[in-house]
Amino acid sequence: MGDLSQAEGGALPAHELEAGIAAITAVLLDVASGRFDARAPRTNTGDALDVLAFLVNATAEEVATLVGELRAERDELRRAQAKLVHAAKLAALGELAGGVAHELNQPLTVILQIVELSQIVGKPPRPEDLELIRKAIERMARIVDGVRSFARSSAMRAVLSPGRAPVDAALELFAEHLRRDGVQVVASFGEGLPQVMADVDRLQQVLVNLLANARDALAERSASGEPRIDVGVHASDGWLVYSVADNGPGVAPEHQAHLFDPFFTTKDVGKGTGLGLSVSYGIVRDHGGDIAFEPGAGGGARFVLRIPAARAHGAP
Ligand SMILES: Nc1ncnc2c1ncn2[C@@H]1O[C@H](COP(=O)(O)OP(=O)(O)OP(=O)(O)O)[C@@H](O)[C@H]1O
Ligand SMILES: [Mg+2]
Repeated sequence: MGDLSQAEGGALPAHELEAGIAAITAVLLDVASGRFDARAPRTNTGDALDVLAFLVNATAEEVATLVGELRAERDELRRAQAKLVHAAKLAALGELAGGVAHELNQPLTVILQIVELSQIVGKPPRPEDLELIRKAIERMARIVDGVRSFARSSAMRAVLSPGRAPVDAALELFAEHLRRDGVQVVASFGEGLPQVMADVDRLQQVLVNLLANARDALAERSASGEPRIDVGVHASDGWLVYSVADNGPGVAPEHQAHLFDPFFTTKDVGKGTGLGLSVSYGIVRDHGGDIAFEPGAGGGARFVLRIPAARAHGAP
C-alpha cells in the first residue's frame, strides 16, 4: 500500500494519520468482538486513510452479512434437526406399538382368565389370584408409562440421575420384547456408578434404538451361537460408558463410515428409516458425549456411548 503519508492529495499531518489509524483499528477490534455495525469515519477525500476506512467498512459490512446468513442457516438446521428427532420418534413409536400391544396382551390375558374363572365358579377371586391381577395391572402401567415418556416430544430436560437409569429405563421398555423374540439379554452394571446429568427419556430412546438395531441384526443371522445382546454401563475417567453389543452379523466395512448418516439404512423399504442412529448421535452430542461403532468381539456389532459423569457433591 506504500507510505500512507505520501498518498494522493499530499502528505497527511502525523496527528491526523494517527487518529485515522486509531479509528480504523477500533472498528477492526469491534468487528472482531462481534459488533458488526461499527464503521470507520470517512473523510471522502480519497486519500489513503479514507480508502482504508472505505475498505474496512466494506469488509465489516460483508462480515455482518455473512454472519447473519450463517445464523439463519444455523437456526434452520436446528429446526430441521428437531423435526428429524420427531420423525424418528414417530417411526420408532410405530415399530414399538406392535410390541407394546403384544406385551399388554399377556397381563390382560391373566386378568381375563381369573375374572372368567371366578364368574364360572360363582365365587370372588382368591387372594393369590387378586395378587396376580395386581401384578398384571402394575406391569401394564409400567409399559404405558414407558411408552408415554418415549413419545414425549420436548426440549432437553437434563436432571441429576443415577448413572444406570437410562439402561434400566430402556430394559423396562424393551427387554421383555427381546426375550420373546428369543434373544438373551445380559445386563451388567459397574460398581459405584456416578450420577449423570441427563434427560433420561432421551438416553432411553438412544438405548432402545440400539437394542432395536441389535434385535434386527440378530433376526438376520447370528454370528456365533444363540442370539444375545449385552447391554451395560460402567464408569471410566469421569465418563459413564454405555454399551450395547450383539453377536449378529456385524457391519460391512464399507457401511461403517455411514452408520450415523441420516437415512442410511440397509433395511427393506418400509422397514427402516435410517434415522435411529443419526438421531441418537444428536441426543448424545446434546449431552456433551459421543457415540461410536466398534466391531464386536465375536464378529457382531458393538455401540459405545460416553456421557460425562456428574461431579460428585462437594467436588471442585
Ligand atoms: N447392531 C447392528 N448390527 C448390524 N448393523 C447395524 C446395527 N446397528 C445398525 N446397523 C446398520 O446401521 C443402519 C442404520 O441404523 P439406523 O438405526 O440409523 O437406521 P435403521 O435401523 O435402518 O432404521 P430405523 O432406526 O429407522 O428403524 C442399519 O440399517 C444397519 O445397516
Ligand atoms: Mg435403527
